[in-house]
Amino acid sequence: MEDFSLDLELSSLPKEKWWGDDEYLFQLGGFWHLPQLIHGVHGVINHFQPLPSDIILASFPKTGTTWLKALLYSIVNRSSKHRLTVENPHSLIPILEYNTYGTTHASATAIPPSDTNHSRRILSTHIPYQLLAKTLDSSECRVVYVTRNPKDTLVSTWHFVNKWARAKEERWPFQVAVEKFCRGLIPSGPYYDHVMGYRNLSLDRPKYAHFLTYEELKNDPKTHVEKLAEFLGYPFEGEDVDAQVEEIVNGCSFEVLSNHEVNKAEGFPARRGLPSNSFFRKGVVGDYEAYMSAEVVDKIDALTKEKFHSFGFIY
Ligand code: A3P
Repeated sequence: MEDFSLDLELSSLPKEKWWGDDEYLFQLGGFWHLPQLIHGVHGVINHFQPLPSDIILASFPKTGTTWLKALLYSIVNRSSKHRLTVENPHSLIPILEYNTYGTTHASATAIPPSDTNHSRRILSTHIPYQLLAKTLDSSECRVVYVTRNPKDTLVSTWHFVNKWARAKEERWPFQVAVEKFCRGLIPSGPYYDHVMGYRNLSLDRPKYAHFLTYEELKNDPKTHVEKLAEFLGYPFEGEDVDAQVEEIVNGCSFEVLSNHEVNKAEGFPARRGLPSNSFFRKGVVGDYEAYMSAEVVDKIDALTKEKFHSFGFIY
């Protein structure tokens, strides 16, 4: 196996505790990364060369990655969308820094095509644009970025982290999660810089980068699925466009996807360190209200205003 990590010295990177006494994040290029992913991140930055036909789904964790994986897969592989009934979306679309360049998977250096009948690859990443600018700007690959409002993203992250094996010994307290989120000290953080990086890319290169939010997709999935299909070069055609779009929207809805046996599984599939059911929790907008005091809401809203509003981006 080619080792993409050889030239990275972990001990040379800044690190900070984000949880408990011994859980650290490592800083590379101004962003924080989990130790188990840092070599993969480094490998992608230094070695990944997208094909012009590649579709890259980029996202901050917990903002709708699983949903978008299902939608992109269904749009591109219309004839084999039934695979979503038997495979978790994460098994169909690899995460570059984990499945492909991560050092934990000895046989995973080859990037699989998104479908055996199809030549276009769909790949995903949580790596910020700021670290991939050289890679993406020199390519004609298509980037789809999904984001989500910061308060729901934080609540979803908090639930997700507390499902990890480590949390059985010690939970990640909510007030710690809020404090770390606001400081940017969570995996792939700072959230705000992550979002603005891809937001600016989509404004600079709209032909190559498409930016959408979890909330607008929830509010009007049909319109956004049609837009995605057009952007990727797979427009819906024929007399039954409405029915085609509706079938994809329904097949990828939280209710349908989360009820497939494969997505209810609590086990740990090969090549993925997390159970399939951990990617489906509630799937709604505004769930933060059940967890945040007015004081926490004010704190995050003030930060959001400072970080986003001066760039004309509203949340
Ligand atoms: P909640 O924890 O708020 O329920 P990611 O896929 O980036 O890890 O994000 C996970 C979040 O998306 C979770 O949010 C999860 O429930 C939600 N989600 C997963 N599949 C979804 C779908 N098909 N539609 C809407 N939300 C979905």
